Amino acid sequence: MRIIVGITGGIAAYKAPELVRLLKKAGHEVRCAATEHALEFVTRVTLETVSGNALYTDLFASGRTEHISLKDWGEMLVVAPATANIIGKVANGIADDALSTLLLAFSGKPVIMAPAMNCEMWAHPAVQRNIATLKSWGIRMVGPEEGELACGVSGVGRMAEPEQIAGAICQGERLKVNPEGELNTLENKDNQVKKGERWLVTAGPTYERIDSVRFIGNYSSGKMGFALAQALADAGAEVELVSGPTFLSINHPRIHRTSIESAREMYAAATEVFPRCNGAILSAAVADYRPSECADHKLKKNGSEGMHLDLVQNPDILATLGSMKTDKQTLVGFALETDNEEANAQRKLEKKNLDYIVLNSLRDKGAGFGVDTNKVTIIGRNGSRKESPLLTKQEIAKLIVEEVAL
Ligand code: CTP
Repeated sequence: MRIIVGITGGIAAYKAPELVRLLKKAGHEVRCAATEHALEFVTRVTLETVSGNALYTDLFASGRTEHISLKDWGEMLVVAPATANIIGKVANGIADDALSTLLLAFSGKPVIMAPAMNCEMWAHPAVQRNIATLKSWGIRMVGPEEGELACGVSGVGRMAEPEQIAGAICQGERLKVNPEGELNTLENKDNQVKKGERWLVTAGPTYERIDSVRFIGNYSSGKMGFALAQALADAGAEVELVSGPTFLSINHPRIHRTSIESAREMYAAATEVFPRCNGAILSAAVADYRPSECADHKLKKNGSEGMHLDLVQNPDILATLGSMKTDKQTLVGFALETDNEEANAQRKLEKKNLDYIVLNSLRDKGAGFGVDTNKVTIIGRNGSRKESPLLTKQEIAKLIVEEVAL
């Protein structure tokens, strides 16, 4: 694909050459267009060297019509970083430099923006209004992410990582963008589950009580499971979401949520509902062990002596559903591995009688617990294998649903 990378004047501009490099590596042709302020953060020489093409910065050079010839050349325009200024200009039809003029001329073709700015600026109603306007025109936003910002504070405003932006671009080639400017693989009737299908999803951590005020838990946020429930509901399924403790909320007429705390409660809820389901995706991070006894009062310190907890194994929900499963049901498990990833995942798939296993490798940056992104390999029992780039958990959920449920 012929991609134009637009760069505006934010500190994250230093990551733009890396994005260009990743796109070139993926086989795309790239040309860059930068604002004058962008060149305070990244040099012309760098951008021309990594892209292998002349940089477009000046509306009045090259016969004054380069914004038209460049528009005709490009098949996709990606602005990374996109400052509040360029977002505001495009939303209001202002074309006063090379990049903003190109953006207005580029209508009718896919545009992706990776906003980056201070968190107060991002939260400002003017910026949010402009973002909503751009999304309503089909411009797709990647990020911003939450994290430490260049100004020293933490909040939402950090540009998505180049790998994530590149991943979104590759997906954009294949996936459609809905009117809200968000990825939508499921909008078409062929991408709906059969009428009346019911799916079980487990999500989040489990808490295993030690006494009346303490528990053993884990860092699972529930984000992946909630995104799966949403993607299944968007595809027309009735969803039984069995979730461990999480602050997340979800509101969809076809999602029925059961909140549980411990692995044994999740086991009871999941095994009860599974016989009525067409399939199940178990993404919960279930504690493998629980204290053998739970005190009904707060345990007291016992002087300077250490404390020993006696643990017993919890039931394996996934393996139990694997043994209950009929030929008509689809069962999907997750595997979070740190080494021998593929071999371990394959072993789990067979041992627990699964149809698919979704492998997360903790070696991948941006994948795993707590973060908003993920990178997975979906392995099927029939030998199928689908690897995703780094994407948001919502996008990963859509890919999984497409692979296992449609
Ligand atoms: N799972 C489950 N019930 C459990 C434990 C895990 O349903 N008691 C499910 C998870 O929801 C996930 C998959 O099993 O889909 C993870 O498999 P598992 O073998 O438990 O992974 P690990 O706990 O990482 O196993 P190991 O310690 O063997 O690596």
